[in-house]
Parts: sequence; C-alpha cells; structure tokens
Amino acid sequence: MFNTGITVKEHDEARQGEALVLENQTGKNNGRKLYIESYGCQMNFSDSEIVASIMLDTGFTTTNAYQEADVIFINTCSIRENAEQRVRNRLKEFAVAKVRKPDMVVGVLGCMAERLKAKFLEEEKLVDIVVGPDAYRDLPNLIERVDDGSKAVNVLLSREETYADINPVRLTSNGISAFVSIMRGCDNMCSFCVVPFTRGRERSRDAHSIVKEVSDLYNNGYKEVTLLGQNVDSYKWSNEEGTESVNFAQLLERVALVSPEVRVRFSTSHPKDITDEVLHTMGKYENICKYIHLPVQSGNSRILDLMNRTYDREWYMGRIEAIRRIIPGCAISTDVITGFCSETEEEHQETLSMMDFVQYDYAYMFMYSERPGTPAAKKLTDDIPTEVKNRRLTEIINKQQAHSKIRLEQQLGKVQKVLVEGLSKKSDLDFCGRNDQNAMVIFPVIEGVKPGDYVSVRVERCTSATLIGKME
Ligand code: SAH
Ligand code: SF4
Ligand code: F3S
Repeated sequence: MFNTGITVKEHDEARQGEALVLENQTGKNNGRKLYIESYGCQMNFSDSEIVASIMLDTGFTTTNAYQEADVIFINTCSIRENAEQRVRNRLKEFAVAKVRKPDMVVGVLGCMAERLKAKFLEEEKLVDIVVGPDAYRDLPNLIERVDDGSKAVNVLLSREETYADINPVRLTSNGISAFVSIMRGCDNMCSFCVVPFTRGRERSRDAHSIVKEVSDLYNNGYKEVTLLGQNVDSYKWSNEEGTESVNFAQLLERVALVSPEVRVRFSTSHPKDITDEVLHTMGKYENICKYIHLPVQSGNSRILDLMNRTYDREWYMGRIEAIRRIIPGCAISTDVITGFCSETEEEHQETLSMMDFVQYDYAYMFMYSERPGTPAAKKLTDDIPTEVKNRRLTEIINKQQAHSKIRLEQQLGKVQKVLVEGLSKKSDLDFCGRNDQNAMVIFPVIEGVKPGDYVSVRVERCTSATLIGKME
C-alpha cells in the first residue's frame, strides 16, 4: 500500500505475490522447507512475517523456489474479485508442482481462506490446509494433521488475538523499514467491504508491546516503522486494571519518542475518526512523516451514505482543511471506488471535483467489485455497466496523473531529507530513498553514504512518479 508513488489501478497489481525468504536463526531444523507468498494489503505481508516466525520456530527453513518446497503457503486477499482470481491462477501453477512432488503440503491463508472456509477444499482439490487470519498459532498442529493424512481447516475468528508476543521475522533484504501491526480487524462495515467478514472484530494491540517492538527494531538498525491497522484512528488500548488508556495520538507520540532517528509512518486513517490531536502530534514530532493516507472513496454525499462511510463530502473537506492548517505541506493520498451502485454521472463528477479540491499526491483507484455477503451485495444492485465504470475510472486516473505530476513538480529546487533505502532498481550508480512525504527520490551514490543514513537531497527534476536530485 505504501510501496508506490505511482498511480495504479489496483493495489494488488502493484503487489503481485511476493515470496518471503528468511534465515532460520532459531537453531531448530526439521529438514523441511517452507515457501510463502503474499497478496493484498500490507497487513497481509505483515501477517506473513508472523506466520514465518511461527514456522521457523517449529524448525522450518524457507525457500524462494516453490517447486522445491515441502510446504507452500499462499496468503490471500478477497478485496476485489480479480484479487481472488489471481490467487486461483497461482494455485493452478502450484498444482503442477504438486504432481511432481505429491507429498507437498499446500495451505491457503488469509482473507480468502476466511471467506470461503471449508468450501475451498472442495473447490481446489490440491489445497490441504485452510487457515484464517486469527488462527496462525494453530499452523504447526494443522500441518501435523495433514502429515497424518487428513485435510485441516481452522477459520475461527478471535476477539483477542493480536499476536502481540510473536516477534515477526523480517525480510532480510532491506533492514531499514519495517511494518508493525497495531490492531486487527475492523468494525466499520463500509457496505462494499469484505474486510469485517474476513478479519473479524476490531481489537487493539498492547501499546507496550508495540513500543517494545519498535525499540527492538531500532536496536537492530531499522530507521523507519509503519504502524498498520484498517483504521488506525480508532486504536484504543487499556491495561487490564483500567489504569492506563492509550489512543492513537498517544501511541504515535510514544512511538515517535523511541528515537528521533526512527521515522514513523502509519496507515490507514479514516476520515470520520482522524482527530486534530493526531494532526497536532504529527506536527510536534519531526520524525513523524508528514503524509496521510485518507481514503475518500467517493466525493458525493449520497454515495458515501450508501457506502456507509459515516461522513459526507463537507466533513471530508473539513478534515482536509484541518490537515492543511495544522501540518502545512503534508502529503495526502487516497483510495477511490468508481461505479458504486446507482452512481450517477453528476455524482461521479463530484468525485472528480473532490480530487481537484484536494490535489492528492497519490491515489489508488478501483472499479467497484461486488463482494458476496457484504451489505451492498445484499441490499443494493451492482447496476453500473462495466464500460461506464471503465470510462469513469479512466477519467479519475487521468486526473490523478495530472495531480501527481503537479505535486512532484512543486518539490523541484527544494532540499529534502531522504532516508537511503538502497541502490536504485535501475542503476547501481544511484541510491533510492523516500522523503518525508513518501515520494521516491533518486540521487547519485556518494562514497561513505550507506542504506539507513539520512541525507539531504536537492531535487532537480522529476519523472511521473519519482524525484531526481543530488546530495547537498
Ligand atoms: N481500511 C481501509 C481500506 C482497506 S481496503 C479504509 O477504510 O480506507 C483498501 C481499499 O480497497 C479501500 O479503501 C477501497 O477503496 C477498496 N475496496 C474495498 N472494497 C472494494 C470493493 N468491493 N470494490 C472495489 N474496491 C474496494
Ligand atoms: Fe473496509 Fe471500511 Fe473497514 Fe476500511 S474501514 S476495512 S473500507 S469496512
Ligand atoms: Fe485483502 Fe484482506 Fe487486506 S481482503 S486488502 S488482504 S485485509
């Protein structure tokens, strides 16, 4: 979700399945290899690190070649129909590998597992394990059951599980930036959305375990954390005695205080819940990045009401004005759904005019995709023809591309603080890193500078998605 300064049609197109390869430092080894691939949002990628941690602890090592794996896990997404289709296509490739290696165990994890439950075993014969997002601690048992010759399903959702005590193993490749899950589930019931059904009730993780995880990351050389939740603004944790209660602004402050050297990002903010207190906290700490992902979904109040977003156009604009007032220069990105049930041409125009009002830095833009079982699927009709959805989406994308360009051009000539992430993908002579506003910056390698350093870069030019400059 954060990994792009490019305007893309689909989150999950930007994040095709990605394999996770990790070192096993537990000293245990059962001689079996795990291959794990993730789809969907950052929460899923973060969950895969928890799953990897559980599996490494039972003695697995990982591989990035699924053909040689003893266990294949695919961590799935249900957000739109094409996200599910992509997983089904991938399973066909795993089926070929399983013919060659019949004792291979294939497990489906995540949101699609939760949505389809045992039905998955009927629909996809190669699948041995179906496990939902709250049942990962049970994976070693489920694997044992499969070893004993049965199929295994655990899709129980929990009101408590936050995996707070599990130290996620990190991708070994970057070592600079990490995702930290601060809550799970969602209670919002936006009418189009499958997440409340696949992820269950909202629950917040112990604030102390979050701060400890961030401190540990810092001590291990990490310089950037992104706090993750479906709606971070409704984070609320209290201790058992009820003597301590922490809201999101307070959590943000505690995390920012771990070290001024650690940059703090977060996602996703909800327009109905983001408070001035959060904005003031962002303004107060230099190391909290000035970037907010504030999904609007639609610029029209009637559609927002049908979507059950619980804010209207004016409220959203008010929140944008508060951001501009309290944190001047803050970057803002959004999610837009076009072609929602009964959306008229005039209502679509209001989404476009909202985009003009905000001038988003980035946007993730989607055609409405009806999801079985959601309130919209039950009560509304998915009545906008695909050609119309497509045309509206193109208009939205074109507008966003123009806005992204304007926003990048506003950075030209400015000196920015960039956290060096590594060599640029295109050239070993360039470094890449992000500025405070989350834009990718490319600049020539200079001796003595290494990934994890903060540097000042003067921006000289830009492409459609990247700033290019030189170190000062
Ligand atoms: N919790 C976040 C969003 C999580 S899903 C929030 O409330 O903003 C990410 C994005 O996927 C959503 O913001 C929405 O724009 C899009 N999305 C969700 N359900 C969808 C559907 N049925 N069809 C198309 N896009 C959808
Ligand atoms: Fe889905 Fe709405 Fe929850 Fe976001 S806030 S996960 S869109 S129900
Ligand atoms: Fe997809 Fe589940 Fe995330 S549906 S977007 S992986 S919460």
